[in-house]
Amino acid sequence: MKIIMLGAPGAGKGTQAKKIAAKYEIPHISTGDIFRANIKNGTELGKKAKTYMDQGLLVPDELVVDLVVDRVNQEDCSRGYVLDGFPRTIPQAEALDKALAAQGQKMDYAIDVDVPDQNIVQRMGGRRACVGCGATYHLVYAAPKKEGICDTCGAELILRDDDKPETVEKRLGVYHEQTQPLIDYYTKAGILKTVDGTVAMEDVFEAIVSILGE
Ligand code: AP5
Ligand code: MG
Repeated sequence: MKIIMLGAPGAGKGTQAKKIAAKYEIPHISTGDIFRANIKNGTELGKKAKTYMDQGLLVPDELVVDLVVDRVNQEDCSRGYVLDGFPRTIPQAEALDKALAAQGQKMDYAIDVDVPDQNIVQRMGGRRACVGCGATYHLVYAAPKKEGICDTCGAELILRDDDKPETVEKRLGVYHEQTQPLIDYYTKAGILKTVDGTVAMEDVFEAIVSILGE
């Protein structure tokens, strides 16, 4: 099962992708997480990506496409995978389709987690991310057991650099301009499914499972 998660920044793509990966036992591939790991490790890719990410801009397509195509060709992806944060532009979607077609494959589902802009800004201010394992929390909707500490690995929880209100606004603008056209793209491909992302996390997941099957 090959799945793409679509949705605005903060719509809950990562939250749902982790649940999908656990239930269907397929890898969760988040380009944002890959870039953040590279930034943390001080790699060349991380240095390049950071200059764009901190401004709320997309990292150039050429730095993303090969990375994802290589990743989905790895052994553990043979039963499928869930892509979170990729593709994000029409050229990225076309490059993915082309790479899959060369192997006689195609994506099965593009799931759009639909959340209006006004809910997003409020959500992002409350998000906290673990500096150790990357787990995501929310001060109100998914609070850690101990304030400021990750339940899973015990490391510190921080506000992501790009979650400051002015950067969130910028990311939303970039989303509408460059990523939203993918809704049309996957509608035409016949694989778009939309779920209401404003309801509780468990209810969003239930809607997704009803699409993907038990
Ligand atoms: P990325 O890391 O992908 O960020 P994003 O798309 O902006 O999305 P987020 O991770 O912020 O949100 P999410 O939808 O995963 O929401 P979450 O589940 O955390 O990308 C970051 C940057 O990297 C980009 O800006 C770009 O620069 C670069 N980049 C990455 N991929 C790229 C690509 N392909 N091409 C070019 N550049 C790329 O949920 C958000 C919060 O809400 C959490 O606190 C969560 O607990 C809470 N929440 C979730 N669901 C619910 C719910 N139903 N009710 C209440 N709260 C909820
Ligand atoms: Mg995410």
